[in-house]
Amino acid sequence: MIDKINALKEKISSIKATSAEEVEALRIKYLSKKGEISAMMNDFRSVPPESKKIVGQALNELKNLITDRINTLREEVAAQKGSERLKDLDLTRTPAVTPLGTRHPLSIVREEIISIFRRLGFSIAEGPEIEDDWHVFSSLNFAADHPARDMQDTFFIQREPDVLLRTHTSSVQTRVMEHQKPPIRIICPGRVYRNEAISARAHCFFHQVEALYVDKNVSFADLRQTLLYFAKEMFGNDTKIRLRPSYFPFTEPSAEMDISCNLCGGKGCSFCKHTGWVEILGCGMVDPNVLEACGIDSKEYSGFALGMGIERITNLKYQVKDLRMFSENDVRFLKEFTSAR
Ligand code: DAH
Repeated sequence: MIDKINALKEKISSIKATSAEEVEALRIKYLSKKGEISAMMNDFRSVPPESKKIVGQALNELKNLITDRINTLREEVAAQKGSERLKDLDLTRTPAVTPLGTRHPLSIVREEIISIFRRLGFSIAEGPEIEDDWHVFSSLNFAADHPARDMQDTFFIQREPDVLLRTHTSSVQTRVMEHQKPPIRIICPGRVYRNEAISARAHCFFHQVEALYVDKNVSFADLRQTLLYFAKEMFGNDTKIRLRPSYFPFTEPSAEMDISCNLCGGKGCSFCKHTGWVEILGCGMVDPNVLEACGIDSKEYSGFALGMGIERITNLKYQVKDLRMFSENDVRFLKEFTSAR
């Protein structure tokens, strides 16, 4: 039997294969249950006990040798196949151009708003989209029966205790004031949700940017100057602003800001409904009740806040007529917006 093993050992180093099928055939011939090695294992039973050790060792060596050889052949065949494929590779060929993506218009405008406020020393703050009543309403001085708490406007996830989707980024004001002592100068971009029927002019989610400045002696003049700077940076140096008295629970006094229509330059057109002005944001002096609710002494500190819709600003810059375009992800629409940012 030893002779048979040795003969096979010699033969093995010279076996060849040129395809995966041939390698497989060799595996079956030698290593399968009905293969030669199995047959020799059977014969091994009749080897006299005194030779068992030597013959057993030789048989194991043979099995390892064959296994190695077949594995080597398998790798060689695979490598050969790979290099055949490489023959077709033309390294001088001009590559297909990968089309460059574009930023989403809302991202472009959000970044622009942030960078304007950053130049004024504001830093970014973020808060959760899933909120509680305290941060979205109560801390912001909403009366218990304020209609904005109504399910018409707010998506509630759970009642009592209320868990809801934030309806505005003003909630981040509270999140920051709870943990940070003045001076506070933050800008909070984010997505907000309202229970509205989706149409060209309304959506159940949209984006806002909130700004908050709290320090000693912050005045309405600071607010107005900040707004004027923002409007000129965003819409051009000739832009004028106008503040109209308004009401928000969390600011007193409150105002809405219009800018001179950037389409007609204030002369009057269909976009500004022939008034020469378009509304862009809400603002005001932080109501002392809000400061106190967040643990800030309203006798020592005052502040201003403002909030704007990013879709609204984007519409003004790019005249997107239908709000739904922003979330449909039609590449023909998205490709129209290129930006270096
Ligand atoms: N949170 C208001 C809204 O969603 C916008 C707003 C108005 C924010 C006045 C403010 C503000 O910070 O002072 O309509």
